[in-house]
Amino acid sequence: MEQYIIKGGIPLHGEVEIGGAKNAALAILAAANMTNETVYIDNLPDVRDINALLEAMEGIGTRIERVDRHAVKVNGSSVENFIVESESMKKIRASYYLLGALLGKYKKAQVPLPGGCNIGSRPIDQHLKGFKAMGARTRVEHGFVIAEAETLHGAHIFLDMVSVGATINIMMAAVMAEGNTTIENAAKEPHVVDVANFLNSMGAKIKGAGTDVIRIRGVASLHKTEYSIIPDQIEAGTFMFAAAVTGGDIVLHNVIPKHLEATSSKLMELGCQVHEYDDAVRVVAPSRLQGTHVKTMPYPGFPTDMQPQMAVSLAIAEGTSIVTESIFENRFRYVDELARMGASVKVEGNVAVISGVDRFTGARVSAPDLRAGAALVIAGLAAEGITIVDDIYYIERGYENLDLKFQGLGAKIEKVASEKEIQKFRLKVG
Ligand code: EPZ
Repeated sequence: MEQYIIKGGIPLHGEVEIGGAKNAALAILAAANMTNETVYIDNLPDVRDINALLEAMEGIGTRIERVDRHAVKVNGSSVENFIVESESMKKIRASYYLLGALLGKYKKAQVPLPGGCNIGSRPIDQHLKGFKAMGARTRVEHGFVIAEAETLHGAHIFLDMVSVGATINIMMAAVMAEGNTTIENAAKEPHVVDVANFLNSMGAKIKGAGTDVIRIRGVASLHKTEYSIIPDQIEAGTFMFAAAVTGGDIVLHNVIPKHLEATSSKLMELGCQVHEYDDAVRVVAPSRLQGTHVKTMPYPGFPTDMQPQMAVSLAIAEGTSIVTESIFENRFRYVDELARMGASVKVEGNVAVISGVDRFTGARVSAPDLRAGAALVIAGLAAEGITIVDDIYYIERGYENLDLKFQGLGAKIEKVASEKEIQKFRLKVG
């Protein structure tokens, strides 16, 4: 089992390159199956979730050619099996995007029903509601969701809650349906727009992505394209908060500053300066952060995927802060781990009350999920002494070379796999 070991207390300085957005890439790879022609996709992050989805796609017969670490050619003409096996779903929840993609193209898909996960219960009722409205029959049997239709037709779908996954899945199913589909109360996240742009580049007719009403005119078929995934706003935000908690000054390249506005504005409330350039941002942290309040909301609100990183910053900020998590019910599981580093956080339901402390002290902690894991790494970068983060498997689902990127900013962090390596690191850093 691998861990990150960190000697904290060093302000981050320098420049870092942000990779492609994992959550856009997952949907775009699934959507690439919807044409018989070869699709070229680059700016893919090389992270576990992406690699697991590529494996799941190979399992249904998709031909994948790795062009380089961040680019693939996908050919879905040889898909012959509409059953996505359970092993892949265990590795990666987002293989549910194959449901919308396969149903849209072949009118049939069978994908393991995703269970709850470690950030909360994650039902897919809204995805199924959309498929049904388009004429599909859906049922759950032996742990699989099965969706099939003779033909799919356009429909008017009003989502009961803003869901990124349901918006994208319904959009994929609708692009080759007969007639027009409207999705109301649609998610507006940048990756929804990216998936729509990708599908449009293959000949789909989608309008309104990025607003809460998306209109889709069905087309008979899709064709090849070359596409570059947008930068990862959550990876970027994670580095921005890392600069904040360490009292650093860093420049992030390959970002879209507009996508970072909610994060940037909270960083400014914390007392940081945020300078925006065309495709870069610079974060300059003060010597002590100021507490503030935050509530997670669908885009353009403050992202739930950034909540733990924000909370870590508030935990060493001046004063008392309140964090309200309104998207997932179980996203405070890192709080007990953070307490081991000296943080003072009280959770009541979906609200965390944080009393800022002067400093964190290094401890051995474990990552409860992807973003919380990254937040604990950030806490370790700020902490006095040595922090060891266990279960970094979760972190590697969504961050490429997190250790190397932090090293490039001057941090003392290494990935280790044994007590011997831990000792070696301790001796090296003194
Ligand atoms: C996506 O999950 C992301 N995952 C998550 O990123 C992210 O936290 C989340 O959107 C919110 O932004 C991917 O893109 C692969 P939702 P998703 O459907 O699509 C409820 C990360 O760290 N809901 O927008 O599954 C749901 O329970 C991750 O990268 C229903 O009730 O999230 C939640 O409360 C983790 N029924 C809310 O809606 C449904 O049918 C929003 O979920 C669908 C959702």
